[in-house]
Amino acid sequence: MAWACTQVRLARRPRGTPEPDDFTVIATEIDEPGEGEFLVENAFLSVDPFLRLAMSEERAISAPLPIDAPIPGLAVGRVLSSRHPEFAADEVVIGRFGWSTMARSDGVGVLRFSCSRGVCSEALGVLGLTGFTAWVGMRLVAPPDPGSTVFVSAAAGPVGSVAGQLARASGARVIASAGGPDKCAWCRELGFDTFDYHERSVGDALAELAGDGIDLYWDNVGGDHLAAALDALRPHGTVIACGGASAYNAPGSVPGPPNLHKLFMKALTVRGFRWADHLDRYPEFLAEMDPLVRDGAISHRERIFDGVSSAPDAFTNLFRSAVPGKIVVRV
Ligand SMILES: NC(=O)c1ccc[n+]([C@@H]2O[C@H](COP(=O)([O-])OP(=O)(O)OC[C@H]3O[C@@H](n4cnc5c(N)ncnc54)[C@H](OP(=O)(O)O)[C@@H]3O)[C@@H](O)[C@H]2O)c1
Repeated sequence: MAWACTQVRLARRPRGTPEPDDFTVIATEIDEPGEGEFLVENAFLSVDPFLRLAMSEERAISAPLPIDAPIPGLAVGRVLSSRHPEFAADEVVIGRFGWSTMARSDGVGVLRFSCSRGVCSEALGVLGLTGFTAWVGMRLVAPPDPGSTVFVSAAAGPVGSVAGQLARASGARVIASAGGPDKCAWCRELGFDTFDYHERSVGDALAELAGDGIDLYWDNVGGDHLAAALDALRPHGTVIACGGASAYNAPGSVPGPPNLHKLFMKALTVRGFRWADHLDRYPEFLAEMDPLVRDGAISHRERIFDGVSSAPDAFTNLFRSAVPGKIVVRV
């Protein structure tokens, strides 16, 4: 038997910031799972910056996503039927099931969302990829010391907001940058010393807010933020290299910061990491974060778009939105 399915595909390679016309929404069919596969009915889809990299000829990690390929976004859903030895019908799973109503999966890289909430949008945000990324960085990669000063860029985004809250929970002071009044207001509510990088230079803001320097920089954006952070870091400080959003939509190659000599002059450490290398720690993360989110100790915000066909619109909002928090699509 084949199942009717609605799916979003890449219509053309985005030039600069993605547009909804870069995508097509098609009606198609999906076959029953084969041996070693399961069928999942997606409930929520995630729009994430890494997808922009996958669409780019210059920045894709391996080959760029081919034109007309389904968009391989993360999704959370329920297993409908299974011929896989480790996944049973009715389990709630997170994986790269794509911007689609349904998907077949071989289980590689799939996470079990064993949480009292069942199928929920948080599985893609504060309790999913973005919250887990923040936790991996702040818990496993370079945990901040109590009393230290941590600078977080894109701090109103789903990764930055959780990274900042975890740093504060460790006893660090958090300086945050975000774009626009609504994002900055939420960062202040989270207890971050916040500036709007559209209003002033990052260097000036850090000189005022952290005259004695910073100990740790959580880099979500690269560009002028990274350059200013290298200047502001104290000797033996650390950069957690999480992302480089300032360059994702730029045409061609983007020059690195002009002050890389600060790395050796101040004996700085740069720690790059990928969330996907730490999937074995996901159950531990979920056990720690689920109660913190339930009790409100970790705050999060979401903006929900409705229907698979709204995924292109949701994705383009990722790069333009002045609203804080995680963008999710309800199928
Ligand atoms: N290493 C990993 O395993 C991993 C996993 C997940 C995500 N990431 C990365 O983590 C970063 C944050 O992810 P997210 O999902 O939370 O994204 P996000 O914050 O929702 O989106 C990226 C944000 O970057 C900011 N930005 C864009 N251009 C900028 C510029 N020129 N200068 C300063 N800020 C700029 C924008 O925020 P403003 O409106 O505030 O400017 C934009 O909202 C991304 O770079 C992503 O690729 C890495």
